[in-house]
Amino acid sequence: MILPNFSLRSALSAVFALVVTALSTACTGTAGPSEDIVEYARSATPNDPETAEIYQRSCMACHGNGASDAPLTGNHTAWQPRMDKGMDTLLNNVVSGMGGMPPYGLCMDCNAAEFQALITFMATPAKP
Ligand code: HEC
Repeated sequence: MILPNFSLRSALSAVFALVVTALSTACTGTAGPSEDIVEYARSATPNDPETAEIYQRSCMACHGNGASDAPLTGNHTAWQPRMDKGMDTLLNNVVSGMGGMPPYGLCMDCNAAEFQALITFMATPAKP
């Protein structure tokens, strides 16, 4: 009687150990962007001075901030599925606002070309 009981226990603890391992792997595997990308996003800025000025005044507070829900500048993993929607859709979503992003991404006087330059900059991978 003792033996089956004992093997059931060890089987259970083996399963438990597997689940714990799987969970902790999942946690580290799906963690947010790497430290490198957070660091890059904190300081990266467009080369073009006009685009840089708009970026710093309007977009950077969220898209350069590792603590926000916004796709981080340079975070290819976050931007690729968004870019796949097409530039027209992205422009529309910026203009009307989306989730935590206010309409126009806070740049009320930006035109489509400026938004496009900002989006292209933010979506460019930190480490190509
Ligand atoms: C107040 C914070 C905030 C500001 C300011 C901001 N964004 Fe965002 N942005 C977000 C968040 C949050 C998301 C993700 C929204 C979601 O997926 O629900 C986002 C998403 C986006 C997207 C992806 C839209 C899509 O369809 O997936 C684009 C493009 C974008 N922002 C561009 C900009 C631009 C350009 C600026 C500056 C002119 C800007 N954002 C300013 C917070 C912000």
